[in-house]
Amino acid sequence: MMGRGLFWRVYAASYDALWDTELTAIVARRVLEEAPGDLPVVEVGAGTGLITRELAAARRVIQACEPNAHMRAHLLAKGLKVDRVTSESIEDLRLPPGDYCVIAVNVLHLVADAPGCLERLLAITGPGGRVIAVVPTPQASVRSVARAQRVAGASTTRCLRFRAAHLLLGPLGMLAGLRPRCEALTPESLVDVVGGVQEIHLLGGVARVAAPARERGRKRPPL
Ligand SMILES: C[S@@+](CC[C@H](N)C(=O)[O-])C[C@H]1O[C@@H](n2cnc3c(N)ncnc32)[C@H](O)[C@@H]1O
Repeated sequence: MMGRGLFWRVYAASYDALWDTELTAIVARRVLEEAPGDLPVVEVGAGTGLITRELAAARRVIQACEPNAHMRAHLLAKGLKVDRVTSESIEDLRLPPGDYCVIAVNVLHLVADAPGCLERLLAITGPGGRVIAVVPTPQASVRSVARAQRVAGASTTRCLRFRAAHLLLGPLGMLAGLRPRCEALTPESLVDVVGGVQEIHLLGGVARVAAPARERGRKRPPL
């Protein structure tokens, strides 16, 4: 795919400057609240490790998976306390039978087959396990995420930088074949919305149900 390598190189290099914000920290804390204390944590699509860092500080993370070499290099450079880092994608991931808390933050809106990936996550999480998936809300856009970051305490400069960077990242991502969207998750698994831009979903053996209606009119979310 044209520009794929370039996109991921640029995205990995700029990711923490764009996303290492209080908004991300709030999402990580919310995810931790929903992660049952007795389940070993596996994170998929760990990226540069911003969520992994918060998970590993609080819980035993047995595996953090990140298929993209550029993103994984930044994750490894953080030297986080996780049992292992692997290059597995959701589609490749194999775990020994057992119950796990499998966490996917801002991943499912980027995969080619989100329903298939969700099914795969539910299959590996075990009968007493839990999947926690965070995806952009239908309303999330570059502008609304920048606003949510501002409300969560980011400086104006930082929010402007976020918006400016997406003027480049948006077209580069399109060239790389990314079409961010996620229709795989339904209101039945939705338990919370952070900053109006991030949906927290729980699925699996111990899933709870809460269902604010999903609104129509999805905008293109940031990558
Ligand atoms: C927007 S980043 C999110 C990174 C991290 N979870 C966070 O919230 O900071 C999405 C990540 O998902 C990874 N990814 C994309 N497709 C994937 C797949 N099929 N399986 C696992 N990870 C995938 C990408 O390589 C990228 O690092």
